[in-house]
Amino acid sequence: MKIVSIIGARPQFIKCAALTRELRTEHNEIIVHTGQHYDSNLSGVFFEELEIPKPDYNLGVGSGTHGYQIGQMLMSIENVLMKERPELTLVYGDTNTTLAGALAASKLHLPLGHVEAGLRFLDRSMPEEINRILTDHCSDLLFCPTRTTVNNLNKENIRQGVYLTGDIMVDILLRQKEVAEKSNVLQTLGLKSKQYIVVTVHRAGNTDNRESLRSIVDALCQIDQTMVFPIHPRTDGVLKRYGLYSRLEENNKIRVTKPLAYLDFLKLMNHAQKILTDSGGIQKEAYVLKVPCITLLETTGWDETIEDGWNVLVGVNTEKIVNRARDFEPRGEQREGFGKGEACKNIKNAIDSVLK
Ligand code: UD1
Repeated sequence: MKIVSIIGARPQFIKCAALTRELRTEHNEIIVHTGQHYDSNLSGVFFEELEIPKPDYNLGVGSGTHGYQIGQMLMSIENVLMKERPELTLVYGDTNTTLAGALAASKLHLPLGHVEAGLRFLDRSMPEEINRILTDHCSDLLFCPTRTTVNNLNKENIRQGVYLTGDIMVDILLRQKEVAEKSNVLQTLGLKSKQYIVVTVHRAGNTDNRESLRSIVDALCQIDQTMVFPIHPRTDGVLKRYGLYSRLEENNKIRVTKPLAYLDFLKLMNHAQKILTDSGGIQKEAYVLKVPCITLLETTGWDETIEDGWNVLVGVNTEKIVNRARDFEPRGEQREGFGKGEACKNIKNAIDSVLK
């Protein structure tokens, strides 16, 4: 079967890396890279380290407004799909690349599968939420990572083609955890296991609002613990524009770095005392690694992490961030809410059973 996988942003490279091997045991997979992420440390390094096959098409779309980005991708993906006429198009997660791929395939009446379907943060001001909803409503096969995501689709009357598969980010995390131990990132950054906090911030809602970002930086400057903060290029740019970057640089508790490769970051998370983040993927990874997570958002779709007590939502409130960084200590039992690392197999089996 001919399958086109459409990817373009960092978390999609990780998801694709997990699934590509499984798909290629039997199927002809064609990879399309939209070019949404193009920096080597957001893109190239993932292909090398995770041995993702070289994309068959690189659309080179790059950065821009949402309309520009999605419009350019839609036109270019349509050309590829008209030429290839795949039996299945796969899109991953909730980025602009995901939505563009979903629209292109569904407008051509080509079967569409969504990996990480059904996620809802119940916050329509997030660009990702719109991407999630529209993509799910265009999809024929919906691969859900959790029971909650299946229930979300049910509430929106999407019941056909829904599969509870488990989360593919867990598959790759479990596969790479031991390999990541070989990374010497802790020595390089001068860190001791369980004696530092990992910080990441990249959500548009947090970075594009001066007050929100200032509130987060205020909190980081008050936390009395070593921190390591790999900075996404969007955040790097705004911190500098708002004159906040120097406060981080001058603080001797905070190690600012460029975005890290997958294995280095996995090791960094695994040995962290706590994680402070606004990333969706990192909330899950923290949970699976049993590292307490403090989330810089007001909502999350990863309810299992909250219900089991391993994740707490603090938004961008300085006091809450500082307090939870000091005293948050999860004790709850963990369920196997994200699967046991068998999601890729489940997705392939579902594809085979429906499309063969
Ligand atoms: C995108 C996704 C987000 C995902 C994140 C993972 C959307 C709407 N957002 O956010 O869901 O969690 O990827 O990282 O699709 N930039 C660079 N180099 C790059 C890529 C981006 O410098 O390689 C800068 C550009 O200034 C760009 C900005 O980052 O304008 C934002 O990039 P964009 O791809 O629009 O969104 P992300 O914030 O990366």
